[in-house]
Amino acid sequence: MNCLITGGAGFIGSHTADLLAWQGHKVRILDSLEPPVHPERKRPAYLSSAFEFVQGSVCDKNTLSGALSGIDIVFHLAAYQDYLTDFSKFAHVNDFGTALLYEVIINDRLPVRKVVVASSQAVYGEGKYECPQHGVQYPSPRPLSQLTRRDWEIKCPICQETMRSLPTDESVVNPNNQYAVSKYCQELYALKLGRRYDIPTVLLRYSITQGPRQSFFNAYSGILRTFSLQLLNGRSPTIYEDGQQLRDYVHVSDVARANLLVMEQDAANYRAFNVGGGAVATVLDYAQLLISLTHRSTEPTIGGQFRWGDVRHIRSDTSSLNSLGWKPAKSLEETATDYLGWVQSQPDAVDTSAHAAAVMRQMGVIRDSSPESS
Ligand SMILES: NC(=O)c1ccc[n+]([C@@H]2O[C@H](COP(=O)([O-])OP(=O)(O)OC[C@H]3O[C@@H](n4cnc5c(N)ncnc54)[C@H](O)[C@@H]3O)[C@@H](O)[C@H]2O)c1
Repeated sequence: MNCLITGGAGFIGSHTADLLAWQGHKVRILDSLEPPVHPERKRPAYLSSAFEFVQGSVCDKNTLSGALSGIDIVFHLAAYQDYLTDFSKFAHVNDFGTALLYEVIINDRLPVRKVVVASSQAVYGEGKYECPQHGVQYPSPRPLSQLTRRDWEIKCPICQETMRSLPTDESVVNPNNQYAVSKYCQELYALKLGRRYDIPTVLLRYSITQGPRQSFFNAYSGILRTFSLQLLNGRSPTIYEDGQQLRDYVHVSDVARANLLVMEQDAANYRAFNVGGGAVATVLDYAQLLISLTHRSTEPTIGGQFRWGDVRHIRSDTSSLNSLGWKPAKSLEETATDYLGWVQSQPDAVDTSAHAAAVMRQMGVIRDSSPESS
């Protein structure tokens, strides 16, 4: 197959490219080499010279049209994903870019056989919960006043009792921030236009994806890169809230396998699948794991700060993708070990987390809490 990967110079795209090439497919990459992922705006050294590379944006019609010529399968991974308040940029890259992709395929009558769209667990917002009295709930974000007084857990919207988080399946979405809204909107463009014009389309909602090549220049998010860089630079990991937040993590090689699986299987067409679910840990346990793997004698810093917009707990139910034959192969420890090995081999790996934290504080993303503020 001739495959186009938008955003293929990035983390997940480059691993998907390697797997496709290994299985005998031809790979073309369309990537605008955005900073901070590519600070020097150069084709990364890890991209095989066997891949055709087009530098340009998914928001440019002529570039997209050229990149799509002769393509059977599109993996649409290019995205703007950050933690800042430039809301319109999320809509521009993630939604306009996706609408333009289908516009070019349809108007140029291109024989594209399938589009695989990289979506995110973020579309679930707070995800699925259970109240002992009122059953399953899909709650709204916690109010600022609750977080300010260090009351971290999600309450039942009916009785205000603390609820239990459940693995979240694909059935209910509830996006709550600019990134999540843009990813859900991207899903709607892809699925609705795909169905209407008979372009088989699959949506993959990745959990937190980790592994080698994850850019360390962007420290606004990414627990593994942030904690690793803090520890490798002699600092202790900064924990927001109380560290008891549950998350699920998936190795990038497992995500690349999911991309190829849904490319191959017609049963995946016009559906959304969670990709993750295997490795679940609290933020604090993850910090302790990294302290142990980096052989540091420090303790995580829990300073009463929180990030306005973070969800409390989220973990994906991957039964749907499991039923197509996918199962994550890598444990959390293997994932962290792989990343640490890679980051330590990079001469330009710098800890940008303090700068990122200062920017987020200035923008009102990082805030202080106090037990006395109730
Ligand atoms: N990494 C995760 O944990 C995660 C989780 C859920 C979903 N996703 C989704 O997976 C996809 C890939 O994420 P990643 O982690 O590999 O990100 P990444 O930042 O490493 O790679 C994204 C690539 O897209 C390119 N890009 C950005 N804007 C572009 C544009 N306008 N035109 C062309 N290229 C552009 C960037 O230069 C970069 O190389 C994204 O759609 C993201 O939303 C990632």
